[in-house]
Amino acid sequence: MKKISLTGIKPTGDLHIGNYFGAIKPALELAKEYDARYFIADYHALNTVKDRKELNSTIRQVAAGWLASGLDPEKVIFYRQSSIPEVFELTTMLMAFTAKGLMNRAHAYKAAVQENSEKGDDTDAGINMGLFTYPVLMAADIIIFDSDVVPVGKDQVQHIEMAQDIAQSVNANYGQQVLKIPQAAVQEDSAVIPGLDGRKMSKSYNNVIPLFAPENTLKKTIMRITTNSQSVEEPKDPDTSQIFQLYKLFADDGEQSALASRYRSGGMGWGEAKEELFRVINRRLSPIREKFDAIIADVPSIDKILAEGAQKARPIAAATVKRFRKAAGID
Ligand code: ADP
Ligand code: TRP
Repeated sequence: MKKISLTGIKPTGDLHIGNYFGAIKPALELAKEYDARYFIADYHALNTVKDRKELNSTIRQVAAGWLASGLDPEKVIFYRQSSIPEVFELTTMLMAFTAKGLMNRAHAYKAAVQENSEKGDDTDAGINMGLFTYPVLMAADIIIFDSDVVPVGKDQVQHIEMAQDIAQSVNANYGQQVLKIPQAAVQEDSAVIPGLDGRKMSKSYNNVIPLFAPENTLKKTIMRITTNSQSVEEPKDPDTSQIFQLYKLFADDGEQSALASRYRSGGMGWGEAKEELFRVINRRLSPIREKFDAIIADVPSIDKILAEGAQKARPIAAATVKRFRKAAGID
């Protein structure tokens, strides 16, 4: 039997090429080796996104983005967290085994408290219980599907350790393996994709190249990449240029060495380098963009795919809750 992998996707904001290379592409490759499950963590997003329209649309945008990028709902299970009520029942049960002190130590909560105290505000200002108990809901997401591995970035490792802790408390209390202990699969420094200004590409820095923008917007965005004041004639160093770093993601080996030698020999301006970057990015993204446009134009079909995924997921979730309730004497 294949091992189970689980990937949670928080629906926040439009996808960019940093998300694609850093998260989507590696996560989709898991389906070759694992019995892979992917879900949209919409109740997690509710902690921060309070605008009805925004949340409603982002859920579909993100789902369409994954489908356009190659997620095959026939081969994997793809669903919305909010469609699996058993997740929230399990969350309540896990709460009884979660030390409050454990939550006090969670990085995201601690950072919010720290930020408040630096501003001289009440330390709990603006912190809701959803943020405080975030790790318990995340533990339920994972544990409910008997997940073996959870591929995550380094920032999420603490959450997986907390899920292990909580599951172990349950098993220790009942003297049997009621819940499976998940393992984190840490993506070691998957390359950091640089943004328009050379910093890490991120929504928060407003420096992203969107994954699905129309061609003219894509071109305009690429033309905004910041460059130094070197003249056309001057030789340029490809290794310190974010245009070239981005180019490497999209160009084949021959194209890469050709552009590198044009950089080094001088006579090519930044404008021309950006044109060349646009050409290769657009070549790769056009088919994905076309798929995305078709998928997002038909929201009922997206919802149907997610609902069918939930139908496959719910019996698995119900079995875990039933097992736990029985162990707990609430059967
Ligand atoms: P953002 O920084 O734009 O808010 P998120 O934090 O929502 O992006 O990231 C979602 C996923 O995309 C995470 O797994 C994250 O590691 C990955 N990711 C985001 N930006 C980059 C980047 N510039 N390079 C590599 N991976 C990235
Ligand atoms: N916390 C994760 C993030 O911010 C999203 C997430 C929620 C998740 N539940 C999960 C990831 C379960 C993996 C497994 O990216």
